[in-house]
Amino acid sequence: MNKLAYLAKFLVYSMSNPKKGREVINSKLQNMEDSLTNLYDYGSTKSSLEDTMNKLFDTQSISISEAKNNTEHIRDHISNFFDKLKHENYPSKKKPYPTEYSLDDNSGLFLYILCKTIKPEKIIETGVAYGLSSMYILQALKENNKGILYSIDSIFSPWQSKEMIGRVIPDELKIRWEFVFGSSSEKLKNILSQLNEIDIFFHDSLHTYKNMMFEFETAWPFITKNGFLISDDIRDNNAFYDFTKKINKNPFILAQKENSFFGLINKN
Ligand SMILES: C[S@@+](CC[C@H](N)C(=O)[O-])C[C@H]1O[C@@H](n2cnc3c(N)ncnc32)[C@H](O)[C@@H]1O
Repeated sequence: MNKLAYLAKFLVYSMSNPKKGREVINSKLQNMEDSLTNLYDYGSTKSSLEDTMNKLFDTQSISISEAKNNTEHIRDHISNFFDKLKHENYPSKKKPYPTEYSLDDNSGLFLYILCKTIKPEKIIETGVAYGLSSMYILQALKENNKGILYSIDSIFSPWQSKEMIGRVIPDELKIRWEFVFGSSSEKLKNILSQLNEIDIFFHDSLHTYKNMMFEFETAWPFITKNGFLISDDIRDNNAFYDFTKKINKNPFILAQKENSFFGLINKN
């Protein structure tokens, strides 16, 4: 879709969904504002998956090679899913999210191993898209026979639809999944107060400074002692860095592909 067609489609959508239209325009303006700041360089603090796990835990309930074996079918399933989308145009109803938008394999493995190790009861994630991160978490919850994942996402453009959110997640994993339809600014506070406390908060929704800081500050008081706050794409702006300074915590930085980083804070 060329830029003009994209804009025309978006304008028509905004006329019938003015609130969503305003949200999207605001987020684009925030992205522009964020792009003017000097970004903190995580390069010297990043660790491999193995080092991150060793720094976090004396003992893990599962080794990295075992985790890779246990989740191989997830990567096969995802790769088949993306193969089917290969010839679809982006953006379109059948391909509402770019495929490179999705979670890095290393981060997926991390989420799986973390859930196998700490056996969480309640997890909240913001930002589902096709559902890769959700799938890694739900696989671990299934094996633990414990825990619920609450995932927040909504429709922000004319080509997105409710049925495509979490589309890659197989039905058998949805038993431990509660999907919350709405933006994090509308839903996060409410769900946190219903749950009272959570073991893991995972941000992967709108990566603007304002939204990331809002989600971190809102979720942090509800995270249990020894629980985790996790964020994807911490290099999009300085919200994660500023938040760690605010709460005086040293984060763990997991290296991903292409100079992007996954940030973790252990609330101990
Ligand atoms: C990077 S993708 C998520 C990728 C996903 N975690 C995965 O592993 O495949 C970002 C998602 O955030 C959603 N999103 C954007 N703004 C949001 C907001 N304010 N609240 C909740 N979700 C939002 C988008 O609809 C999109 O599905």
